[in-house]
Amino acid sequence: MRCVLLLALLAPGADAAQVSAELLPTPQRQQALVRLVRQDCGSCHGMQLTGGLGPPLTRQALADRSLESLVATTLHGRPGTPMPGWKTMLSADDARWIAQQLRAGFPAEEPR
Ligand code: HEC
Repeated sequence: MRCVLLLALLAPGADAAQVSAELLPTPQRQQALVRLVRQDCGSCHGMQLTGGLGPPLTRQALADRSLESLVATTLHGRPGTPMPGWKTMLSADDARWIAQQLRAGFPAEEPR
């Protein structure tokens, strides 16, 4: 199964660690994060993330944003705007993974 294979690749101590020093959320966590972004973030940023109360979070819209600014906005919100901080629900690694996916074009939710 693809999931199991991925898990094995990402397991601590696996050679994958040499490829990237960043801690990736597990495949299961990634699936949960996709759901959270599609549903919770989508409630303001639009179900397709093309904008609503919040601005679009599409690849095109975020092209000139730094990863750091996206991570900071996701974790700490934007005081004085409706954008809430998510640091009680997301780790820094979660937020970095989400920001990377947003800049690459956010994946669709996998059917359960
Ligand atoms: C309650 C509504 C709401 C929710 C829920 C919400 N946002 Fe936002 N978000 C906003 C608003 C409004 C802004 C614009 C803030 C401003 O005016 O600077 C924003 C801005 C942002 C930005 C900055 C975009 C840019 O162009 O710089 C990012 C990144 C972002 N949100 C990510 C997220 C993520 C990821 C989630 C879910 C974990 C989320 N938001 C959930 C309302 C929301």
